[in-house]
Amino acid sequence: MNRQQPFDIGAVQQVIAERSGLQGAMLPILHGIQEAVGFVPADAVPMIADALNVSRAEVHGVISFYHHFRQQPPGRHVVQICRAEACQSVGSEALAKHAESLLGCQFHETTKDGQFTLEPVYCLGLCACGPNLTFDGELHARVSTSKFEQLLQAKRGTS
Ligand code: FES
Repeated sequence: MNRQQPFDIGAVQQVIAERSGLQGAMLPILHGIQEAVGFVPADAVPMIADALNVSRAEVHGVISFYHHFRQQPPGRHVVQICRAEACQSVGSEALAKHAESLLGCQFHETTKDGQFTLEPVYCLGLCACGPNLTFDGELHARVSTSKFEQLLQAKRGTS
């Protein structure tokens, strides 16, 4: 889907103004924009390019290279499942498959009802207690498939 999504342009302008003077400003700006509006809108690309005096293609290349950056707004809730090695060794791939099947979407996608976005993450710093995930930024450890179902249920219908 390439349709433009509405976003708070003032918040994007503010991030660019605050961070464009930093050394290696591209990543801090992209992180700041995603924090401020939830994703990096396509319309922000020329604004960043102008501020940093680089081409739009260069900005777009950085956004595409780092899967962390969303190019579409996320769902109401964001689930990030750790797919790094330590969590994989204790079952995170089975959890990932279960999550895809329960949500009816793949990683980097949002459920049809707009409720949940599923994303991979590569290490949450709690490797001894996997499989781990975050739900709206809140860390959960030793997540079994049934614990995942409970977490999902608790989030359904909440804002
Ligand atoms: S590998 Fe999953 S938290 Fe480190």
